[in-house]
Amino acid sequence: MLFFHLSRALGRTCGQGDEVVVTELDHHANVAPWQALERERGVTVRMVRMIPETGQLDWHDLEAKITRRTKLVALGVASNALGTINDVRRAAELAHAAGALLFADAVHSAPHLLTDVRAWDCDFLACSAYKFYGPHIGVLFAKKALLQSMDFPKLLPAPDLAPERAETGTQNHEGMAGAAAAVDFLASLARGKTRRERLQAAFTELEERGRVLTNRLWEGLSRISGVKLYGPPPPECRTPTVAFTVRNVASREVARRLSELGVFVSHGDFYAATVVERLGLDSEGLVRAGCACYTTAEEVERLIEGLSAIARQG
Ligand SMILES: Cc1ncc(COP(=O)(O)O)c(C=O)c1O
Repeated sequence: MLFFHLSRALGRTCGQGDEVVVTELDHHANVAPWQALERERGVTVRMVRMIPETGQLDWHDLEAKITRRTKLVALGVASNALGTINDVRRAAELAHAAGALLFADAVHSAPHLLTDVRAWDCDFLACSAYKFYGPHIGVLFAKKALLQSMDFPKLLPAPDLAPERAETGTQNHEGMAGAAAAVDFLASLARGKTRRERLQAAFTELEERGRVLTNRLWEGLSRISGVKLYGPPPPECRTPTVAFTVRNVASREVARRLSELGVFVSHGDFYAATVVERLGLDSEGLVRAGCACYTTAEEVERLIEGLSAIARQG
């Protein structure tokens, strides 16, 4: 809903001749709100290609699609289907050089890598606290000047000061308290004097843990005949989210059989429908295994062994 709220607000100053750049790698939550501006405001949406073989964004195509007509570049920090991490800073530089703004979708990346709006220099960023062990509440960041000046849809009597003017109604206080507690939980995973220091240290550790688990998972799965892996292979920059298919076994069935071993994986397109389409997969889509902060090496071994048996039996 926050993505639509932002697109509606930005759309009020856009019209024919203006363009928004989105990518094939993205969750449709970061595509549909911008496509709505095509219908509502006559804006043109340009979609940057992904490279199916590597699961990476085609940066040449991104550079070509950002022009003086571009108002906004909407980019995922990381792909929720393939785990690809995008260089947000580089995209922000390209967008800003053309006079455009950058929106970063950090919903998938937030539990895996430190969200740093200053380092990335994004103009807007959104994430969902339930992805980083918190409650179901959305978070929207915008640079102060934008928050103060943008024409957000709001009720006339509602406060017109930033950030209240961007709120969508009565605030979700229990969600906000829960989201803050989730940040504290992440910070509690490491030591440091300030919360910022603890968070930085926690994410350094989480990234390293994720790397070790992903390396083992990727290596184990790539040895199983009939298993096909998608997305950037480690050690390339990726989240610990690994997508695969099993020859002659539907993804739904793979997920069902792994659940009998106490291994929870998801299947389908995870709303990253264009990724699945570009990979040439049918409606069964992918199987996706993700490592969270509590995932153990034993669970990774259980997944590898379970999948070996599933692939053998067909
Ligand atoms: C990359 C990405 N963007 C957006 C969303 C949508 O977020 P929400 O579930 O809070 O609507 C998701 C959800 O999985 C996601 O992974």
